[in-house]
Amino acid sequence: MLVPGKIILDHAFHNHYAVGAFNANNMEQVQAIIDAAAETQSPVFIQVSRGALQYSRLIYLRNIIQAAAEEHPEIPMAMHLDHGNSLAVVKTAIGLGFTSVMIDGSLDESGKKALSFTDNLAITQAVLDYARPRGVSVEAELGTIGGVEDGAGVKRILVTDPAQAEQFVQQAPIDSLAIAIGTSHGAYKFKEKCELQHSVLQDIHRRLPTTPLVMHGSSSVPAELVAIVNRYGGQMPDTKGVDIEQLQSTIQQGVSKINVDTDGRIAMTGAIRQFFAEHPDKFDPREYLGPARAALKAMVAARLIAFGAAGNASKIK
Ligand code: G3H
Ligand code: 13P
Ligand code: ZN
Repeated sequence: MLVPGKIILDHAFHNHYAVGAFNANNMEQVQAIIDAAAETQSPVFIQVSRGALQYSRLIYLRNIIQAAAEEHPEIPMAMHLDHGNSLAVVKTAIGLGFTSVMIDGSLDESGKKALSFTDNLAITQAVLDYARPRGVSVEAELGTIGGVEDGAGVKRILVTDPAQAEQFVQQAPIDSLAIAIGTSHGAYKFKEKCELQHSVLQDIHRRLPTTPLVMHGSSSVPAELVAIVNRYGGQMPDTKGVDIEQLQSTIQQGVSKINVDTDGRIAMTGAIRQFFAEHPDKFDPREYLGPARAALKAMVAARLIAFGAAGNASKIK
């Protein structure tokens, strides 16, 4: 069942687990995510980036996500706009029936220039004014999560300033705050080992003890999934993501939503590459999209269990 994101976030926050938020662009991804949530009895966020909205021509993906909610009324699920960068795109998402939106005020609409604290606050307040009366939850971002996002090129990490975070939430009472503590989007996060700024997170949580926090760029880039891609002709250089144990430790510091996209991309790509390598004669899309869907489902289920979300679906009223 589709519910406002806040209902899931608050339950996760008060019960010390994190909800997994997984990106989708097509039917197989939506099915994999809802199947994993149903199998583990977890609430879940299905999130749609601006690129995904465009790729799916707005209504297709919305209708597929609504179909998932209809198929599984027992699973509390938020349909979430990931990295909205303008009031216009937020309005589009809300018009489509999204139950949660992110306004990413870390960069301007061109994706090239950092927004000032004041401008970020202003756009976030405008989004709150629009979303709140419509029952839609709002996530904002302070600091800059690094890496690649559509339209934004490669962004430099700008760690969130805890004092600014406190001031920001006092002035814009959002439902959740995305913070930057060293993660970045994409597969190439760390060269050697995962290093998160845990002391910054602790300070943010101390100053904002009632605000659910959100971790972006949280793929773990599992070596075994990268190995499948490379075994079947891929060329992904050696890289490190965020360790599951480190993600788990952030949950004790107020992190209630953990965003994962890249791990799903790697899982699906490995399965498809393997299928093509082993069956060069086959050409029915169901035969390679099926294993890709299964690989994504396995990854999503593992994350929902690791984040402590499993078993909570029926506890959310
Ligand atoms: O935050 C980035 C997500 O992984 C979405 O990626 O903008 O390429 O759809 P995308
Ligand atoms: P990853 O690239 O680490 O999967 O992060 C996804 C994300 O933050 C989506 O908003
Ligand atoms: Zn993100």
